[in-house]
Amino acid sequence: MKPKVYIARPISKQVEEYIGEHCDYKKWQGEGAIPLDVLMEEVKNVEGVLVQHAPITNELLDQAPHLKIVSNSAVGYDSFDLAAMKQHRVLGTHTPFVLDETVADLAMSLMLATARRVPELNNFVKQGKWNTQTKSQELFGIDVHHTTMGIIGMGRIGEKIARRARFGFEMDVLYNSRTPKPELEETYGIVYSELEALLKKSDFVVLIVPLTPETHHLMGEKQFAQMKNTAILINCARGAVVDESALVRALETGEIRGAGLDVFEQEPVLTDNPLLQMEQVVALPHIGSATEQTRAAMLMKAAENLVAGVTGGVPENVVKE
Ligand code: DGY
Repeated sequence: MKPKVYIARPISKQVEEYIGEHCDYKKWQGEGAIPLDVLMEEVKNVEGVLVQHAPITNELLDQAPHLKIVSNSAVGYDSFDLAAMKQHRVLGTHTPFVLDETVADLAMSLMLATARRVPELNNFVKQGKWNTQTKSQELFGIDVHHTTMGIIGMGRIGEKIARRARFGFEMDVLYNSRTPKPELEETYGIVYSELEALLKKSDFVVLIVPLTPETHHLMGEKQFAQMKNTAILINCARGAVVDESALVRALETGEIRGAGLDVFEQEPVLTDNPLLQMEQVVALPHIGSATEQTRAAMLMKAAENLVAGVTGGVPENVVKE
């Protein structure tokens, strides 16, 4: 008999066929994200579940006595209660590597879009506001090339961002991470910096750290005060790495120039979030890894991890505590 699994997000035909070869499966067929009460019900009789960012809580695990593996089709796994999973002997897996370059591309897009005011000026043209009276200074942005980028988090994605910044835009790159990375310093000519010095010197501060208790609200009032008034914050990590109220104040008072945000403390972001009213903020709906190619690769990787976990194999990407 094949092991039973539940697929809690839409998948391609190819991935579905692959899972079907090895497992008896049921899948979420509704619109949008699966409601938690539905997930809670569906995990009761399965050995594995494939999710994307769905919260895996102690309460859910208590309902799922047969569960062996939760396979997350994402690299970040802050949605997992790792202690509860350990206690319930449930493995967690994620999809590193396959999305690194794609998320790095998005970080650069956000930086360029914010610095050169791309969405704002796109609207300006499309709304017919560009005319012979337009003053060229009204359209000015700021340079990206040959400026200084400070990267907070120097994992795989941080490295890809650093490479783009150094070799594509000839920027100076400072970085902060738990431990210095001498081999990356050697390869890319990047420089380790304490957080405060990085914030003081950078024209663009890029966040690409996992969300953990240590990085929660890593950027708050004090940190924004340390940034240059001309600097731009880019967040491709998790919304809660930034204290959003402090960010709103820093933007309102001109303590920093702008922000490019792919992530928010609450997602989907609430329509009355003041950040959405600000011209100097470029906001995206958490699309760091969202390209056709990368999302397909992530799903296949998540499916492989799932199948390995329920068929006695060793999943390749077990998350570390
Ligand atoms: C991830 O994989 O964690 C990214 O945030 C995209 O979902």
